Amino acid sequence: MAHLPVIFIPVFFLLLVTWPSFTAATTLEELHQLQLNQLSKNYKILEEKVAKLEIALHVAKESAGKSSISRTCRETRLADPSLSSGMYWIDPDGQGVGDDPIYVFCNMTTGSTAVPHDSESPTDVGHCADPGCYSKAVKYVASSRQMLALAHLSAQCYQSIKYDCNYAPLKLNDVTYAWWNDKNGNPQYFWAGNNNRVHICQCGIDGNCVDPATKCNCDAAAPIQLSDEGVVTKKEVLPITKLNFGRTQLETSSGVHTLGPFECTGQVAVNRMPSSCEDLWKTGHTLSGLYSLMGVSMVESVYCDFSKLPHESGFQKWVGFVDIKSSPTFFYVRRKGRFDKLNTPIPFDHVMLNAGGAMNWATGIFTAPRTGKYFFSASGMAAYPKASSRLYLDINIYKNGHSIAIGGSDSYSSHWTVESFTLQAISDLQKGDRIWLAIGAKAGSGYIYENGFFHFTGFLLEEAVSVSLRAPN
Ligand SMILES: *[C@@H]1O[C@H](CO)[C@@H](O)[C@H](O)[C@H]1NC(C)=O
Repeated sequence: MAHLPVIFIPVFFLLLVTWPSFTAATTLEELHQLQLNQLSKNYKILEEKVAKLEIALHVAKESAGKSSISRTCRETRLADPSLSSGMYWIDPDGQGVGDDPIYVFCNMTTGSTAVPHDSESPTDVGHCADPGCYSKAVKYVASSRQMLALAHLSAQCYQSIKYDCNYAPLKLNDVTYAWWNDKNGNPQYFWAGNNNRVHICQCGIDGNCVDPATKCNCDAAAPIQLSDEGVVTKKEVLPITKLNFGRTQLETSSGVHTLGPFECTGQVAVNRMPSSCEDLWKTGHTLSGLYSLMGVSMVESVYCDFSKLPHESGFQKWVGFVDIKSSPTFFYVRRKGRFDKLNTPIPFDHVMLNAGGAMNWATGIFTAPRTGKYFFSASGMAAYPKASSRLYLDINIYKNGHSIAIGGSDSYSSHWTVESFTLQAISDLQKGDRIWLAIGAKAGSGYIYENGFFHFTGFLLEEAVSVSLRAPN
């Protein structure tokens, strides 16, 4: 130290004497003036820079409260593929609802989101003896709700963790000295992978720990520098909320933890028609409103409240079934001629309406074009000659040969009579099921009366649209 003045003063002197611009005429006053000019120039440059930064900050704040914030980095990249990796505002639980947007690192190559926290740099755990005697809560820049939403929206989430140890085991002689707490505060003992039921590190998974009898390098409890480093991939329990270590009481012991940010990437695949608001939410819908979903057998209408998260009550509200028919089906046919054959499909000779063409009027056989519930109705007159015993005629609706409805009339008269009959049915039909009318039983020589009194109508009441969609047409 004592030498400094001796060295520096001559150098300064030399500069003063030999500086090219400082010719003989240069006074000390002029030198000060020059320095002052330079300083005020620098000041102006700085002032401009500060102004620019203030504008940038303002813009950032503005955009934080306005339209163009995506829910994840993946979606940010989707909206503008030209963006490069860096810090971005995102709002996983939805913009303008829930918690405030968060400022995260977006890797635009992978589209992954990294939520920073206050414990990313290597941290010495110091010295203490008991299990978990060192404990550090991890503070993220995002609320747990935001991170929950991010995890829900992502295919994978993970977090890297490293523990550099010197004679500082995580577990020794069946005593567990170290653990981390998951998003629910539960203790976890796996330091890599996704098996949360075991105490294990990456070397334990790979089977190459320093001491083959242990599952972690640090558990070798040797007075040498060791390290366990792994990536926890069990999305359901992340992020890590607290780190706990112990058994570092010896002066020769040391432990240093390094925890990576909470990272999420990818999109949960919904490779089918949406069947819930959650499906819609995962595929990018964020505007609350009425939506159609594919129900078990029919299309359903629901209200999706995207200001809530999928597990929160009121996220999905059922409204009702949507009456959709992929093939309109209704018919109205009549028969003018008389008919008296037993167990024979009754054909028709007049078609009033046959939307979809499912009724083959010439054979009298209706073939269900779609799986669903159908309504059928028939009415007509039966004519009977005079008789001294009871005469009757039973008309049936047959489904693939089995009677599903019966109606009829009878007569016991000394005159020729005409009696009306009517029958209805609602039936659950599979695509391809066949329906027809026939006289199932009769006594005497009664017959279905001519002159167009015989009517047969039917229509598709409710289609199992989901079934129709699964079946090839
Ligand atoms: C993005 O992620 C990839 C793959 O993990 C990595 O190689 C790359 O360095 C990351 N980019 C930035 C800017 O961090």
